[in-house]
Amino acid sequence: MRKKIIAGNWKMNMTPSQAVELVNTLKPLVANEEVDVVFCVPAIDIIPAIEAAKGSNIQIGAENMYFKDNGAFTGEISPDMLVDAGVKYVIIGHSERREYFAETDETVNLKVVKAFEKGLTPIICCGESLIQREQGVTMDWIRMQIKIAFQNVTAEQAATAVIAYEPIWAIGTGKVATTEQAQEVCSGIRACIAEIYDEATAAAIRIQYGGSVSAASAPELFAQADIDGGLVGGASLKPDFGKIVNYK
Ligand code: 13P
Repeated sequence: MRKKIIAGNWKMNMTPSQAVELVNTLKPLVANEEVDVVFCVPAIDIIPAIEAAKGSNIQIGAENMYFKDNGAFTGEISPDMLVDAGVKYVIIGHSERREYFAETDETVNLKVVKAFEKGLTPIICCGESLIQREQGVTMDWIRMQIKIAFQNVTAEQAATAVIAYEPIWAIGTGKVATTEQAQEVCSGIRACIAEIYDEATAAAIRIQYGGSVSAASAPELFAQADIDGGLVGGASLKPDFGKIVNYK
């Protein structure tokens, strides 16, 4: 039985002092040991957020990292920096990073491989645009994203990964995918993992849905056979996140 993982993606919101305040506000509201609760926060908020989350069930994650160990890469954050700060999860290849910061399937793959090498759990994002959905190529597109993201990743590593299916048209739009659409793609992703690896790896890997998840939509989405939780943007900055974490 896969443990649900419900993660917030704060994106570029919250100063360090606001981060501490938000963690303190949400701490009692997300105290649900039945699910993994992760707050992925801006790099500068990681250390104060970890400090504020001490003694709670909240795990702090990062929103990005670079695929090199160290060196002349001005402005980047290395995986060792995240590990040393106490981070366990890192979002890789969010569609906003692909769109605004030129991330490609190849750099996503390099980051995924590096995250595993350093003992971090990647939350690997994939998802189609509205045009691709209308063209009927959603699953082809996502299968390609997944197949490239998992190059040079062992079955043992893949079994511990988290995949976030986030249709781009559903992000920040208030237009959540229907339960059927979300389940269909998450099930297709699991089948793709079974093809690349085997049934056991596919059964172990956790697949989240993301895109306008709210307290209202979470219960039905998270009840689907292949949806193992959510990656939540806007609603993760509000007390509503407590309701999402306690969706049952
Ligand atoms: P929203 O929940 O704000 O639509 O954002 C989803 C997302 O991009 C999470 O990574």
